[in-house]
Amino acid sequence: MSTSTTTTRIVLASRPHGAPTQENFRTETADLPELADGQLLLQTLYLSLDPYMRGRMSDAESYADPIGIGETMVGATVARVVDSRDERFTAGDVVLSYSGWQSHSVVQADHVRRLDTSTPLPLSTALGVLGMPGFTAWAGMNNIGHPKQGETVVVAAATGPVGSMVGQIAQLHGARAVGIAGGPEKVAYLKELGFDAAIDHRADDFAEQLAAATPDGIDVYFENVGGKVWDAVLPRLNTYARVPVCGLVSGYNATELPAGPDRSGQLMGTVLKKSLTLRGFIQAEYADQMGDFLAEMTPRVADGSISYREDVVEGLDNAVEAFIGLLTGGNFGKLVVKVAD
Ligand SMILES: NC(=O)c1ccc[n+]([C@@H]2O[C@H](COP(=O)([O-])OP(=O)(O)OC[C@H]3O[C@@H](n4cnc5c(N)ncnc54)[C@H](OP(=O)(O)O)[C@@H]3O)[C@@H](O)[C@H]2O)c1
Repeated sequence: MSTSTTTTRIVLASRPHGAPTQENFRTETADLPELADGQLLLQTLYLSLDPYMRGRMSDAESYADPIGIGETMVGATVARVVDSRDERFTAGDVVLSYSGWQSHSVVQADHVRRLDTSTPLPLSTALGVLGMPGFTAWAGMNNIGHPKQGETVVVAAATGPVGSMVGQIAQLHGARAVGIAGGPEKVAYLKELGFDAAIDHRADDFAEQLAAATPDGIDVYFENVGGKVWDAVLPRLNTYARVPVCGLVSGYNATELPAGPDRSGQLMGTVLKKSLTLRGFIQAEYADQMGDFLAEMTPRVADGSISYREDVVEGLDNAVEAFIGLLTGGNFGKLVVKVAD
């Protein structure tokens, strides 16, 4: 087992303008501090790559502080305890941490959660289907979407960890799940997963396909992407439709507002006439429901009644390229980096 007191880490070298490039990142080796009481030395096993990290690379005002230039890129990790100065943990324990893009870290024991290594589920599931993204889908659907028997639920980025969970939760509630994804391979996977309909947002006739897949309109649109998907969805929303606004990934690399005309008047008119509920949320708002989520979903994932797909990239060296691809659909399933065995 490693007893490293150095870490290999990827830091933010400069802020991107538009899509991030390799030049916005730098890999370096740094010494770690001596362990103090209440701290753990961790070795990263898996690093989660998530779309929100693009926002942290920017210094535009947001719900969380930006990463400083020269600071380690942030991110959730599954890590092994190498050394412990906290009586609750011993070397060999596996924890969920927020150690970022690096091989080793020193963290406060209070800031990690022990993971159960006795289950047959891969440890990486703690970053995806049973982690923050799966929870985001569950919390957004239960608190805002409220899908009901016979209703139609639409979600894009549907092969990802949020979208695939949204569709499966919709069906647990007896609703029809319509998934949107980029490219025929992802669309085929959605059908395999059991979505009632699956559409490719890159198709020239995407809006017509969406209309055909939602003959009774849309009752819940779980907003993951924005852009032209939202443009096609808006006219199909039913009276009293709910829109949990979770993410707008189609615009994360945008450098300016979309070309006119300004359609905010049309949007507000539709909100008014159809009594729509649009509610933005950050999953942390519902953090006190995490225990309920894990209690409900862990057995479903374990018995296979909830499916998931992971896109595992080998080695921290490949994290930057994988992250750049995540923002344009290069991933197929929950993107994680396997940092160590
Ligand atoms: N509010 C919160 O607390 C919270 C928490 C977690 C995640 N989120 C948001 O939830 C969304 C999904 O996250 P995830 O982790 O599950 O990501 P993901 O689906 O694994 O990856 C992002 C996906 O977005 C799709 N995409 C990219 N550009 C697009 C475009 N122009 N039009 C349509 N789709 C596009 C791509 O899928 P295709 O190839 O299928 O197009 C890509 O694979 C993101 O917006 C994320 O920021 C929000």
